[in-house]
Amino acid sequence: MAVPEPLRQSLVAAGQDNVLSQVNTLNDAKLSLLVEQLEKLDLSAMKSLIDTYVTSAPAFSMSSDTKPAIYYPADATSTVRSYDAAKYIAAGEDLLRAGKVACFTVAGGQGSRLGYDGPKGCYPAGAVTGKPLFQLFAEGIKATGNKYGTPVPWLVMTSPLNHEATVGFFKEHSHFGLDANNVMFFPQGTMPSFDLATGKMLMSDAYTLAASPDGHGGSLKALYTSGAIATLKERGVEHISYFQVDNPLVRVADPLFLGLHASAPDSSGQMSSKMLPKAYAEEKVGLFAEIDGRTQVVEYSDMPMELQRETNADGSLRFLAGNPAIHAFSVEFVEKVNTDPACTLPYHRAVKKIAHINTETGEAVTPAEPNGVKLERFVFDAMPFAERSIILETSRVQEFAPIKNASGIDSAESSRELQTERAAIWLEAAGVAVPRDGHAKADCVLEIGAMTALDAGDLAKADLPKAIERGQKLSL
Ligand code: UD1
Repeated sequence: MAVPEPLRQSLVAAGQDNVLSQVNTLNDAKLSLLVEQLEKLDLSAMKSLIDTYVTSAPAFSMSSDTKPAIYYPADATSTVRSYDAAKYIAAGEDLLRAGKVACFTVAGGQGSRLGYDGPKGCYPAGAVTGKPLFQLFAEGIKATGNKYGTPVPWLVMTSPLNHEATVGFFKEHSHFGLDANNVMFFPQGTMPSFDLATGKMLMSDAYTLAASPDGHGGSLKALYTSGAIATLKERGVEHISYFQVDNPLVRVADPLFLGLHASAPDSSGQMSSKMLPKAYAEEKVGLFAEIDGRTQVVEYSDMPMELQRETNADGSLRFLAGNPAIHAFSVEFVEKVNTDPACTLPYHRAVKKIAHINTETGEAVTPAEPNGVKLERFVFDAMPFAERSIILETSRVQEFAPIKNASGIDSAESSRELQTERAAIWLEAAGVAVPRDGHAKADCVLEIGAMTALDAGDLAKADLPKAIERGQKLSL
């Protein structure tokens, strides 16, 4: 077998034929694996991609017409912006009853910050039960289907690195009680990594490009190319409830959010988001802003710190709306983003240490300093392509307890505390006495499973104790 001539010529034209330097050392099987990876690349666009993102960095400039994004407050009776929550909850519930909503989890990331070897969704996350993240979502999805009388399909985006392990985990656990026909898996795409100085593609061995998942923004493309969108359309699904694999407290399909997304007068029903008030000015979360009349997210690293610190007359942060990465989009919008060339998502570059081989000598190189560029797309960059995009406020304790780090902020421990706190608030609202310490923190470990309650109101039907003991661990 030889490298197909048109491919060789395209590589030469793109200045990337270094990836063929070791082909004489390869057997047919390995050569065909290399050719397969190279044929998937858009080589004609590579030069401009490298000029824009690798050998130079795009300068971020903030339009002078940048304002804080407006949002629906969590308290629908707020004088700032009141709205008829009951009406929108009913609209969201109607969508769920009619089978028009699917859940979508992006689970393709590498989870390296957590120091966990398997797919992140297999990580034990339940505060008391240690149930894996995937099981917590599965139960939320099952309970939602039961509550509204129609099963909710679930899309799980994996990456080539964790696809088999993820699918195997679900099989091993009988899809956590869900009908396997209602759970769809598909891997996201990958992007090659580039040498920072030369812009050449890096190789991890003589027949493998050094590549990594193409970011959660790759989910919009993967939804389409995998055929998932076509399947959803066949099933009559119109809207997708999007969330990240790292947040065990997420409402997998929140009727209020879905109702506002699909029917609020200022929503085009294309792409909507939840927001979380920032805890402090320097907090590292993306920020919702209205730029030149379009709602979008600006990464904290791009937003000038003096803007992030600006306050209103009452001392509150002017740019308050942080991004917890919870969105809703319509099936139609995903199609539009994939078919309208005006809707191309930009890339974001990350400069990293990337192990590779010297393609001339074949020797392994372990860099001591950052030497390469990884490129990712971000899902929130699709927001400006929506005609009108709405935002709903949520709260940390009710919906955001991500597990990203091995310890400290956003760790399993902080997540356990938030899960306990939410359960405590729900139980107290149902009349159960919860022990609290001198800092008013719940002095126990609590977990309320989605099959017991999807929201505080559902606890009214549950069999509850009168009081929780100090130090007790209780799963309901
Ligand atoms: C992200 C957001 C940040 C937000 C925070 C909330 C970005 C750039 N930033 O930060 O604005 O405040 O979440 O939690 O997104 N994933 C894939 N495939 C990929 C990359 C990521 O599926 O190629 C998934 C991961 O599995 C994970 C999620 O996307 O569930 C988040 O990715 P990560 O890179 O960890 O973003 P954060 O730094 O957490």
